[in-house]
Amino acid sequence: MAITFVNETNTFYLENENLTYAFRIVKGYLNHLYYGKKIGHDDLEYSYSYGANPLQVVAANGLQYETYAPELSFFGFGDYREPTVQVINENGDRLAELLYVGHDIVETKPRINGMPSLDGGQTLIVHLKDSVSGFGADLYYTVYDDCDVIARRIVYINGGESTVRLERAYSFTFALPENDYDVISLHGAWAAERVVQHTNTHFGTVAIDSKRNSSSNTINPFMAICDKNTTEEQGNAYGVSLVYSSSFKIVADGAPEGNVVISGGINDFDFSWKLEAGESFETPEAVIAFSASGLGGMSRAFHDAYRNHLINKKYVFAERPIIINNWEGTTFYFDEQKLKAIIDGVEGTGINTFVLDDGWFGVRNDIHSGLGDWFVNTEKLPCGIKGIADYTHSKGMKFGLWFEPEMISEDSDLFRAHPDFAIKAENRQACKGREQYVLDITRKDVRDHIIDVVNGVIRDNSIDYVKWDSNRFVTEFVSSQLPSDRQREFSHRYALGLYDMLDRIVLANPDVLFEGCSAGGARFDPAMLYYFPQIWTSDNTDVDSRTRIQYGTSMVYPLSAMSCHVTSATCRGRNINIKTRGDISSLGAFGYELDASTFTDEDRQQAREIIDEYKEWNADLVLHGDLYRIKSPFDTNFFAESVVSKDKNKAILVVFRSKFYMNYAPPHFKMSGLDENKRYYVRELDKTYSGSTLMNLGFVLYNHIGGDYTSQKYHFEAVE
Ligand code: DGJ
Repeated sequence: MAITFVNETNTFYLENENLTYAFRIVKGYLNHLYYGKKIGHDDLEYSYSYGANPLQVVAANGLQYETYAPELSFFGFGDYREPTVQVINENGDRLAELLYVGHDIVETKPRINGMPSLDGGQTLIVHLKDSVSGFGADLYYTVYDDCDVIARRIVYINGGESTVRLERAYSFTFALPENDYDVISLHGAWAAERVVQHTNTHFGTVAIDSKRNSSSNTINPFMAICDKNTTEEQGNAYGVSLVYSSSFKIVADGAPEGNVVISGGINDFDFSWKLEAGESFETPEAVIAFSASGLGGMSRAFHDAYRNHLINKKYVFAERPIIINNWEGTTFYFDEQKLKAIIDGVEGTGINTFVLDDGWFGVRNDIHSGLGDWFVNTEKLPCGIKGIADYTHSKGMKFGLWFEPEMISEDSDLFRAHPDFAIKAENRQACKGREQYVLDITRKDVRDHIIDVVNGVIRDNSIDYVKWDSNRFVTEFVSSQLPSDRQREFSHRYALGLYDMLDRIVLANPDVLFEGCSAGGARFDPAMLYYFPQIWTSDNTDVDSRTRIQYGTSMVYPLSAMSCHVTSATCRGRNINIKTRGDISSLGAFGYELDASTFTDEDRQQAREIIDEYKEWNADLVLHGDLYRIKSPFDTNFFAESVVSKDKNKAILVVFRSKFYMNYAPPHFKMSGLDENKRYYVRELDKTYSGSTLMNLGFVLYNHIGGDYTSQKYHFEAVE
């Protein structure tokens, strides 16, 4: 890993074993030169063709900005591409010509204040400034040895004497040559999260964004830009992933000179930030992956970056609990006896953590009431939360509890005492979502109240695990405590408020494992992963749907980040057998979610076998291994994924067939990521094959998987 500045050509090279990121300074302007497979420290000027355009504007420094690929682009000096930053100065002009004034290389990456970011090593900070207004930008770049990503962010600084209004404050810009790329993003909805969507760059902009005050299930904060011939394991793939949980935007601007300029960060829609003299504004981090080994390589780069540098070190590689959650089994309808019967029901199965979901607090028998009243409902649970926790512990299990800390019900003691805590516009009735309001956590007093109460419940009840849910998006985007000229700061302030709450609850309880959730997987983003080593992937546990949801989610997020639970055979859709539900759930952080109080000895025996099998290899491979997506459920009738240990000595392959067709030509499943020179014993076939054969010829499972919605798991172990 190295960051080098070559004086003769004014060029920065950021590189590791596999990649190079290069840009140079031309008359103060930062000119992006290259991002991709590792190259030499050559003078890259030759790769430029400036062309001649009589309409092109020349700035005072003699540059035609639009003819150069940018590292940061700005408006008002002849560059009409998507700007990285837009300001309004006090005199009303919107100008900031951001030119190089210096740089630093630091050995330890500075963290962002108040927002999650990757840790890491050597970091380049390039200082840019407008010589007239004093407005500046510090561009941060971090390169890693152990993963093929560049982490980028920008700090905007009002170095002048008057107020500046930021109208756009993106985190990064870079460019790729030519303009003929596939663009892949992950759209979705409740119960259908992270569907893989393809489009392409063109002249004009291709943009994805969320305006929901959440990274959202409608579009994940991720965009891949790939060469046209890129496949799952071959070709160049670039991925942009934002470590951010509020409204965002990522744009690919097919520029007239023939390249595509990619930028993004906080959504500039409904955004404006007042920056007083001397203040600065930190943007969220963007992680930009590169792989010459296709989309699979890009995903593995993200998985390694997030496992090694983002997710809580105490939990990221630690054995995860095997959970029984009561939600899909009971919803709100439970009492003390029922919960104890569920806990008893899983005895001997290997399940080691009971999570009590929604409905334990206030008056909460349906979605209409109770949120905000984080004290136990003694009618349902006369023994209190402590009683259930103690009972769970007495069975040798850990105890988890559900909260939805950002929300409030109109019918709650909290709302009766503090109606102003809810987000509401003056003289208007607030919109309801799932019958609830959102708390105005841009306010410190609101946060302080919730933090005290939630920490109190955790402290007083011996809680080992918390599920943090969030079941609606914000609508009004106003705060009664912000002045009118700061109301468009709301969305970002909400994110900062949320991170403050999480810092003061999650980080203050280091022995509690927190799981994220948002009506299923509606806020599945890297910033949430910083707090939550695992996130509930979707409320949809129908296996056929789950193969798509998990496949799409794995584009960016490691398997260990995806909570996957086995539910009853008919839960949420098709009647699919428990073994298949187990096989697909075993590709994540594993658990059960059903009414285990009705378990028979046979159910318990089946659960024990599924869990034993998970614990034997999956648990470890899910935490540490490399994922290879072998068949896509979006493109084929199959889903197949393998997970290979880093030393390539062990692998599992899970294959799922959606529909059975008689005499349907059987596909070849070609393994990936094995060592071609090793021989592997395939347990289920009781045969040994060389890695090269398994990867190049592959094998046919024609006789091994039965009818509709069936699966098979294979274990590979290097023997020679
Ligand atoms: C939505 C979550 O996704 C579910 O798992 C469950 O916790 C419910 N909320 C509870 O209201």
